[in-house]
Amino acid sequence: MAYMSPDAPIAVLDSGLAGLTLVRALRAGLPHEQIIYLGDTARAHYGGKSAELVTTFVREAVSYLMVHQPKHIVIGCNTASALALPAIRASFPGMSISGVVEPAARAAIDAAGAKAVPLIGILATEATIWSKAYEKAIHRRRHHARLLLRPAPLLVPLVEEGRELTDAVLKLALQQYLHPIASRGADVLILGCTHLSLLKPLITRFVGRNTILIDSAERCAEDVARRLQATGLLRSARDSHDLDDLSTGGDELRCFVTDEPPRYRTLARRFLGDDPGAPTRVTLDELQAACRDARPPLRASA
Ligand code: DGL
Repeated sequence: MAYMSPDAPIAVLDSGLAGLTLVRALRAGLPHEQIIYLGDTARAHYGGKSAELVTTFVREAVSYLMVHQPKHIVIGCNTASALALPAIRASFPGMSISGVVEPAARAAIDAAGAKAVPLIGILATEATIWSKAYEKAIHRRRHHARLLLRPAPLLVPLVEEGRELTDAVLKLALQQYLHPIASRGADVLILGCTHLSLLKPLITRFVGRNTILIDSAERCAEDVARRLQATGLLRSARDSHDLDDLSTGGDELRCFVTDEPPRYRTLARRFLGDDPGAPTRVTLDELQAACRDARPPLRASA
């Protein structure tokens, strides 16, 4: 891998804007990092799409982000991590790339503690559940864990519509999705979709305080911090001041989107907990061109 500096940015990609919940967690834990975010808002959401299509989209997004020479790329979407991460790592062998599924699965096992046969619930998109990525990640570590898998496709549009936690439709949908988990008293519940971070208080109310919630975005941010620490690429307060002194520093967050929907600002602010600033629009042609350029040229057959 080429030499990397701690000053290089962390790149986060997502199917839309909910990956900004991960950026929020990264900013809280790693306040000196530069972050670039790419939301594929033109093609959101990925939760009902095939693994093949999602992998193509993620490969294009990663190719585009590579142009910014990040020190690490995070697939900040459970669906994209579940469906595409192994193929994407194989496509970019020199690049450090992580996802949200493994850190959340690891945290769920830790939270289950010494219990011989823990009951772990997973609430996620249909594509994430069908991929079995969480099942595999958990059973690799705890063969005997029992899983309650709940695809919850309605929650993404309800969150995006801006429904409040007091909203009757949102409550009804959550109650139905969570019923088997709440009635069987799961030990742990993985929020396996970044949209769900915004629903935590309501989810806690439905499942009860004895069920430990694992927020995939928060656990992923901790995992990124560990990876950067291990490779000596964490950016310190001193690094960021040095850069400011040279006047080469800029905003610590830059957002790129493939479409700027009318509700961009409102939604992004909800997920990020802060004003995201004006995004830079990237066309799908630009993503696809970056992907073509990233590929080694095909050899003409002899
Ligand atoms: N936030 C995405 C996830 O973490 C769900 C949205 C989508 O379907 O792309 O799975």
